[in-house]
Amino acid sequence: MTASIIDGKDFAARVRAKVADNVTTLKEQHGLTPGLAVVLVGEDPASQVYVRSKGKLTVEVGMASFEHKLEADTSEADLLALIAKLNADPEIHGILVQLPLPEHLDSDLVINSIDPAKDVDGFHISNVGLLGTGQKSMVPCTPLGCLMMLRDHHGSLSGMNAVVVGRSNIVGKPMAQLLLGDSCTVTIAHSRSKDLPAICRGADILVAAVGRPEMIPGDWVKPGATVIDVGINRIERDGKTKLVGDVHFDSAAQVAGAITPVPGGVGPMTIACLLANTVTAACRAHGLPEPEGLTA
Ligand code: GUN
Repeated sequence: MTASIIDGKDFAARVRAKVADNVTTLKEQHGLTPGLAVVLVGEDPASQVYVRSKGKLTVEVGMASFEHKLEADTSEADLLALIAKLNADPEIHGILVQLPLPEHLDSDLVINSIDPAKDVDGFHISNVGLLGTGQKSMVPCTPLGCLMMLRDHHGSLSGMNAVVVGRSNIVGKPMAQLLLGDSCTVTIAHSRSKDLPAICRGADILVAAVGRPEMIPGDWVKPGATVIDVGINRIERDGKTKLVGDVHFDSAAQVAGAITPVPGGVGPMTIACLLANTVTAACRAHGLPEPEGLTA
């Protein structure tokens, strides 16, 4: 069998178009422009690339983009003061503090100082708790993107065996909660799980989020399964730098029913979902109905 490719680049463009439609309606009918503030501390090159890309796409869908670039040695007090100001600003509906933060800053403290209603990353402890108890929350962007692609591909996920490989707070744990919310039978596995190949072979839906290049080969994949590869790993091969996922694509694509490529799979969905979350936050802040198809 050769898997069908789930095209995340195309899907993300459709999500952004839907976000743009919602923004137009909010502006025309309610005089409301959703605003997203991104805070970057220091000069991590990868973070700078992400932040530039976020700013560009925010403007492209018609939203207001606010960027705050702070020196690497910014004090915790100054960062918390900026977040307090953004929390109080009615023009700002979403706040994202780019991670990782420099070591002298306490990431948990900083994230938990964001107003949960504006926490478009879904990392605030209140949002984590709300998601875990099946209540309305802000949902982390990458798992939300994976869920959207799975729903689009399968329709209902009810009763399917889902295996999430990886237990991070940003992807693995919220992904498992979302799949449980859609009535999957969920296993969270990780690099220390006993007999990981056998666990993976039981998956109708296999989500790989371990951060190890090409760790999951095709013979760990159940024939016909849907494979969602969250990994983005930079490797050197044949003297060139290459991006690969956590799944060995060529062998997995021979077995799976559908698979996301790297690049062009889950990656582009993360920013699309950040924009979707910002529209959702703006609607909630103004007591308006939530945008359809853009939430969990
Ligand atoms: N760094 C890499 N990805 C992310 C993300 O999704 N959110 C934040 N805040 N920082 C990141």
